[in-house]
Amino acid sequence: MVFTAFAAASLLAVFSTQPAGVWAQDAEGWYKSHPGMSRINRVNQDSHQIVDEFGRTRFFHGTNVVMKEPPWHRPLEWVPGVSSFGEEDVQNLHDLGLNVVRLGHSWAGAEPVRGQYNQTFLDIMKQQTKMAEDHGLYVLVDVHQDCLSRHFCGNGAPDWFAQPDWVARGKMYPFPLKTTPFPVDERGFPTPESLCSTVDWALSYTSVALGNAFGRLYNNYDGLGDAFAAYWKKLASGYAETTNVVGYNLLNEPWVGDTWADPTLLVPGVADHKVMEGLWNRASEQIRTVDNDTLIWFEGATLDVLSGFNNVPLGDGSKTVHSFHYYSPPQMGTIANTLDNRSKDNERLRTAGVLTELTFWMGDDKQMQGLADAMVATDAKMFSWIGWAYENLYDGTTGQPHPELAKHYSRAYPAAVAGIPTSFSFSDSSATFKLQFTADPNIDAPTEIILPPSTFPNGYSVEVSPDGSLVQHTVDKRTLALFTSNSLKDATDITVTITRK
Ligand SMILES: *[C@@H]1O[C@H](CO)[C@@H](O)[C@H](O)[C@H]1NC(C)=O
Ligand SMILES: *[C@@H]1O[C@H](CO)[C@@H](O)[C@H](O)[C@H]1NC(C)=O
Ligand SMILES: *[C@@H]1O[C@H](CO)[C@@H](O)[C@H](O)[C@H]1NC(C)=O
Repeated sequence: MVFTAFAAASLLAVFSTQPAGVWAQDAEGWYKSHPGMSRINRVNQDSHQIVDEFGRTRFFHGTNVVMKEPPWHRPLEWVPGVSSFGEEDVQNLHDLGLNVVRLGHSWAGAEPVRGQYNQTFLDIMKQQTKMAEDHGLYVLVDVHQDCLSRHFCGNGAPDWFAQPDWVARGKMYPFPLKTTPFPVDERGFPTPESLCSTVDWALSYTSVALGNAFGRLYNNYDGLGDAFAAYWKKLASGYAETTNVVGYNLLNEPWVGDTWADPTLLVPGVADHKVMEGLWNRASEQIRTVDNDTLIWFEGATLDVLSGFNNVPLGDGSKTVHSFHYYSPPQMGTIANTLDNRSKDNERLRTAGVLTELTFWMGDDKQMQGLADAMVATDAKMFSWIGWAYENLYDGTTGQPHPELAKHYSRAYPAAVAGIPTSFSFSDSSATFKLQFTADPNIDAPTEIILPPSTFPNGYSVEVSPDGSLVQHTVDKRTLALFTSNSLKDATDITVTITRK
């Protein structure tokens, strides 16, 4: 257990001016009596931020781990050049400074035969979630999909989900992207599989067959919406008691539905309330029969600029998170502008929002500048982020990370704030981190700043204003804890500045 291994680290005597009473505060004792990770199951609807069991505001930096083909989970064993998710990986993510993984929990892997769950698969997912917990990482349980199923050169829904006769023969996938549909094998999958690379996957959503299949999911045709909701109940019953599950991400990048039957679904904002809201409620109702606590993360149409939901799933924004992506295209305009729009969504829906995917792979200068801009903007607007994706971190078969990506993953950030944050920032050139927050003296849990050793190889200096308002304690190699001093009686504005030595 990483946390207890470092619990013996001592208080740092940095401030000569610190009043004597402060030293009586028992930081080590707090960690001993609160081993492990904090439960996270509430959103502060005024600050629009996620809070933990102690009332601390929480921020997340992380990466996506999704396996899009059988066996629908990453192997546990670390082999350079092969995308895995095991001990070595969670250690790497911990060392980088990350604290969350959006972990794909494929419906296809979990329910290979309708109504029959594959417990072996579900156990492997739980094992990977537990490994993440042992290294201080939260897990966002993500039911992932792209183009829904193998009938449409996609992934996510089980093979039994879609039927070839749902659309007329001449309109089968990928009509009208191709005038003649692809030949299919006995399972209804395009054959040879190489045909799939001849269509743009994102444009595939505009094909008749794929839109039709999404429409049937939303309409609960043949109980397919119920089957999706039942899968969520199955997942939630397995995870309800799991400390490090930060949420249930209902469905990745849901398409707007059957646009051939209802073209209004293409109007920005319409699909969110017209088709998705019903399915999200259906799944959330099933989740809540077994788990009243875990946050439900919901996505809207990927193309949207502003959310079109009338309300969050089940109507209580303190128990949900709006999960959204930023890619350019399809998003027009800067990430800063997108985050401003998402803040408006948060205010209207009275919930929190998290950027659960953004471009996090090597590219040309413009793309790398975009990533640097995203890092600055997410800090400035105080949004958590999860990059796409873990496997892109590594440089081919060497097993070495790309330094240009590792540097962004290894930023300093406030994982927990014992109060209400007003701003934070990190300059990667000077390795200077600054946090301003209003400390809540009723919270006895510490503010925690992640300071990855690779970014601060010779350590760091900490300045706190007002002097003596925080008590420092090193938790582990990457985490600095700052306990609000017992001498503080009222809400107090505190500034923390940390610089590389
Ligand atoms: C269940 O999952 C395990 C682990 O991925 C796999 O080996 C097995 O083939 C799966 N069973 C079915 C019926 O798909
Ligand atoms: C969730 O809360 C509802 C309403 O308070 C209650 O009826 C239900 O039993 C709870 N479910 C669980 C799993 O705790
Ligand atoms: C933000 O929303 C406005 C509409 O209020 C829209 O015009 C603009 O394009 C949006 N920005 C982005 C980057 O999506």
